[in-house]
Amino acid sequence: MTSEIDRREFLKLAGIGGVVFMSGIHGLPGIAMPGNKDFYFVQLSDSHWGFEGAKINPDAKGTLIKAVKEVNALNQKPDFVVFTGDLTQTTDDTNIRKARMKEFKEIVGELNTKVVHFMPGEHDASIDKGETYKEFFGDTHYTFEHKGVHFIAIDNVSDPTGSIGTEQLEWLKNSLATIKPDADIVVLTHRPLFDLYPQWDWATRDGAKAIELLMPFKNVSVFYGHIHQEHHHMTGHIAHHSATSLMLPMPVAGSTPKRMPIPWNSDEPYKGMGFRNVLSETKIKKFELNQYPINEAAKV
Ligand SMILES: [Fe+2]
Repeated sequence: MTSEIDRREFLKLAGIGGVVFMSGIHGLPGIAMPGNKDFYFVQLSDSHWGFEGAKINPDAKGTLIKAVKEVNALNQKPDFVVFTGDLTQTTDDTNIRKARMKEFKEIVGELNTKVVHFMPGEHDASIDKGETYKEFFGDTHYTFEHKGVHFIAIDNVSDPTGSIGTEQLEWLKNSLATIKPDADIVVLTHRPLFDLYPQWDWATRDGAKAIELLMPFKNVSVFYGHIHQEHHHMTGHIAHHSATSLMLPMPVAGSTPKRMPIPWNSDEPYKGMGFRNVLSETKIKKFELNQYPINEAAKV
C-alpha cells in the first residue's frame, strides 16, 4: 500500500518527461497495482560481487543477499527482475572471475521471481570482451516483449572503449525496423547513452547513434546503471534513469576532484544504495519509479 508521504512525493515529482517518479521511500516495501494491464519489474544494478573495502562497504558480502531477500519480500511479485550490469567486480584472473560469477548466480538464484534478465557492466565484460559473462549469463544484447512493451538490452561495455559498435548498432536498427512508431520501448543498458560526464567515463562513445535510432519512436525510456546513483535526464523526448548500486555509492558527477566511492557512514548504513521497481502504466504511457533502501533488518 502506498503511504501518504509516498503519495505526496509521488505528486510532487509526477509528470516529469512522461515518467512518474517516486523515490526515497523508507519502511516496508509495498506497491499498489492499478489497472489489470499494468505490470512492474525490479531493477537491480552494480552489485560488484567480489569487491572488498571495509571503509566503503563493511557488508560487502551481505548487501546483495539482503537485496534479494527484500525483493522476495515485496507484497506483490514483480513480473521480472532486470540486472543492469557490473554484477561482479573486475579481475584479471579468469578463475576468480568465474568464481565470482558462479557465486553471484547462486545468490541471485534465490530470487523467487521466475524471470531475471541480466546485462553485463564493464567490470564483468570489458577484460575478455564478454566471453566469461556469456558462459554464465548468455547474450549481452537482446530484446524481449512483455505485455505490449518492447524491451531492448544494449551492450555498451564488452567493447573496452565503451562503445556499442557498428555491428550492434546495425542489429538495433534492424530490430527497430519491426517496431511501430508509437510502441512502448524500454531500453536497458549499463552506461549512460548520453554524455553525462565523460571525464569519469560516464558516457557511451557512440551512444548518440543509438539515441538517433530511437528518436523516431514516441515512447522511449532508458534504464541504466554504472554511475551508482539516481539520475534523471532527457534527450529530447527520451527519458534516461540511472539506478543506485548494491555495493558502493558514487558522488554527483564532477562534485569531487576524483571519481571515488562515497565512504561508509555508520550513522547512515547503506545510504545511497538500494534497488528500485519500475511500474509500467501502459495505458497512459507512464512509468513510476520506486526507490528502496537496503533494510538492515533483512539479516544475512
Ligand atoms: Fe560500470
